Amino acid sequence: MKVLSILVVVGILSLTMADDMSLQVSVIEPDMDLLDVQPENEVDICESHQCVTGEQCVILDSKPTCQCIETCDAPKDERQKICTSSNITYESDCHFYRQKCWCKNSNSKCSDASIVDEKLDYYGECRYIGECTLEEKEVFPARMKQWLNEVLIILDERKDLDPKYVNLVELAEKLKKKNVEKYWTAGVAFEFCQLDKSNDHLIQKEELSTLISSIKALENCIQPFLNECDSNNDDVISDKEWAACLDLSPEDLDLLRKYC
Ligand SMILES: *[C@@H]1O[C@H](CO)[C@@H](O)[C@H](O)[C@H]1NC(C)=O
Repeated sequence: MKVLSILVVVGILSLTMADDMSLQVSVIEPDMDLLDVQPENEVDICESHQCVTGEQCVILDSKPTCQCIETCDAPKDERQKICTSSNITYESDCHFYRQKCWCKNSNSKCSDASIVDEKLDYYGECRYIGECTLEEKEVFPARMKQWLNEVLIILDERKDLDPKYVNLVELAEKLKKKNVEKYWTAGVAFEFCQLDKSNDHLIQKEELSTLISSIKALENCIQPFLNECDSNNDDVISDKEWAACLDLSPEDLDLLRKYC
C-alpha cells in the first residue's frame, strides 16, 4: 500500500503596495491523505496491492481488489475544492477521483461520463484566471523565491519537515536575520529536492504538477515561468536550469546538490 502524502502547499500572496510585498503563506493538506486508510485486518494483504487514485484496496474472496473509494470526508476548508480541466468545481480531490472511478466503471452513481477524460487542474474553486501579463511575469520570480523560503520555515514550524533539512532551515533563518540579498537561497534549494521525488536531479513534468495545481489559482504566472525555466525545452528541469531561473550562485547549486 502506497501511502500518499502529497503535501499541497498553497500560498496566498497579496500585493499591498507596488514595492512593499506582503506575503502570507498557508499550508493545507488535501483529503487524499486519508484515502489510504484501510480496515485493519485488510492492511497486510493490501500492502503490496497498488490501486490507482480514486480507488481503494479491499479484500474480496481473500484476494486484494481495487474498488472505487467508499467515503470522502466532508472538506474542512474551502481550499480543498478543486477545479477540473473543464472548469468544473468538485468538493475535494477525493470527490473528483471517486466520481471518475464510478464513471470509468459505469457505476450508476456516475453523473457525467465525460469526467473520464478530465484532469485536476488546480486546487480551489474554479475562477477566472487572467493571462500572466509581462509586468506580472517580471515580478514573479522574486515572489516565488520569497514564498519558497517561507514554505521551508513554515513546514519546519509545523514539524512537517524531513529531519535531513535541519541545516537548511538554520541557514534560511541565518540569512534572513542577516538580511542578505539572496536570503531565500535555502528555500529555493529545498524546493528542488522536494520536487525531485525520483532523485535523479531532474524535475519531470509529473513532479511539477502538484506545485502547479496548488498555486495556479493564485499565481497565474507559475506555468509560464516554469516553462521558461526549461530553457532547452526537453520537458524536464535540471538542477542547473532551476539554479539559473531562480538566480542561484554556483555555490548555492553545490548546496542544492548536497541536499537532494
Ligand atoms: C471558469 O468558471 C469560473 C466560475 O464559474 C468563471 O469565472 C471562469 O471564467 C471560467 N473559466 C473559463 C476558462 O471558462
